[in-house]
Amino acid sequence: MADGRGWTRRDVLLLGAAGVAAVTGGVLLWNGLRDDADAPTPAAGTSPGPSPAPGASDEPGTSAGTLREPEVLASVDGRLDLALTAALVETEVAGRRVRALSYRDGVPGPTLRVRAGDRITLRLRNGLDAPTNLHTHGMVVSPEGNGDNVFVMIEPGGAFDYDYRLGTDHPPGVFWYHPHHHGNTAEQLFGGLFGGIIVEDPTPIPASRERLLIVSDTGFDAAGDLHVATQAERMLGREGELVLVNGQLGATMEAAPGDRERWRLVNACSSRFLRLRLDGQRMALLGIDSGRFAAPRDVDEFVLAPGNRADLLVTAVEGEAVLRTLPFDRGAMGMMGAPSSATAGADLAAFTVTGPVGAAVDPAPRPAAPRDLRTRAVTGRRTVRLAMGMGGMAGGMGGGMAFTIDGREFDHDRVDLDVAHGAIEEWTIVNESPMDHPFHLHVWPMQLVEVDGAALAAADVDVRDVVPVRARSTTVVRIAFEGLRGRTVYHCHILDHEDNGMMGVIETT
Ligand code: C2O
Ligand code: CU
Ligand code: CU
Repeated sequence: MADGRGWTRRDVLLLGAAGVAAVTGGVLLWNGLRDDADAPTPAAGTSPGPSPAPGASDEPGTSAGTLREPEVLASVDGRLDLALTAALVETEVAGRRVRALSYRDGVPGPTLRVRAGDRITLRLRNGLDAPTNLHTHGMVVSPEGNGDNVFVMIEPGGAFDYDYRLGTDHPPGVFWYHPHHHGNTAEQLFGGLFGGIIVEDPTPIPASRERLLIVSDTGFDAAGDLHVATQAERMLGREGELVLVNGQLGATMEAAPGDRERWRLVNACSSRFLRLRLDGQRMALLGIDSGRFAAPRDVDEFVLAPGNRADLLVTAVEGEAVLRTLPFDRGAMGMMGAPSSATAGADLAAFTVTGPVGAAVDPAPRPAAPRDLRTRAVTGRRTVRLAMGMGGMAGGMGGGMAFTIDGREFDHDRVDLDVAHGAIEEWTIVNESPMDHPFHLHVWPMQLVEVDGAALAAADVDVRDVVPVRARSTTVVRIAFEGLRGRTVYHCHILDHEDNGMMGVIETT
């Protein structure tokens, strides 16, 4: 398998056995951690009867009321200076008192609002009992030194001063921040460590209202402690039973008929794809990630892979609507089966449109025609192979799955791809595995050329920092290695896959 030849019957049988072992291992690990925990939480033997599935509570008190937005920290005169402390705190998530990870008391962390040309100085203190660091996902800022450097490791009790300088040509849009310490990224994100970043539009887009909706999933046990992923969940990519918007379950938004709202949606789930619908309302996508389409695109539904963001216009139509995510098939792994999101969707928030017709809103200005790398000469082509095979050290227990790119697991000391500054490259990203892998590259956005064997229409300029690579399929992108230089990473944004090794190092010099 490691050489990526596809799945034989023997592989599947082996994987089946590994799957059973992994599930058992997960249960043992779970009990082991319980015994060590300092809080008096029920171990398996002491809980009264079978404990409820994490988060799948019959608890009342989850009627969250009006959707709240995180605290906003905005730059002043080109500067934003702030401090965050990653810590385990007692807080409210989905209407329950729980112990979750937080940057500043709540979940999500504060929203940073800045402009092109700004400088953000940020002190991150590590109040966790494991290493952490910070990544400003999608931001076009230096990956070196104390910029957006994911090779930084902040030990428990330590701190690091980040200094992010946005170029005057930094794209506007919605970005986000989250930990990026290899090995525990998924766990820390799932625990609650994430927040939004908005880079303002140079020309404002008229709207009745703007909202930031950060969608995350997580889970807790009956005692209110974070669910610890089983080894099977670490292979498939963990999904939490609670699918939240801004940390709330079942929140409500209100609008007047005719309102045109601008929603910035972030998929901050560790592994879950969002296939979003808002039936009865009118949706137009301005773009995905920091890419802006040539014109708004009317949609009935759209998919956000983990890490993706949507810049969306919603025109309100009288009635009651529900923002929901539908089941999405992101593949399966032998007898470990498929993630639960393959068959189960979730309601995210209610959208109630009543009352007199709201004030008219001017149409969105047309953006400058986006640059199309398909019209440019390519200076180099590469194939990048994503694979899952037997025999890796995934999960630290041996005998698990290897999650590889070009046949290798992540090594922070090795540069896998060397790229000349100024190059315009075409990458063919081949997924030889039976699961989807949303492929993410830091610093340099990717333009979709071909997905799943189908070329994009000439009019569709679609630039993203996370691109879909479906199971046993191929995606072709073009990338301009212009602007910033430096050493950073590319990886699967199913963060358990990244933690298991599906990440490489790229250096542009
Ligand atoms: Cu959102 Cu390298 O990650
Ligand atoms: Cu990123
Ligand atoms: Cu993956």
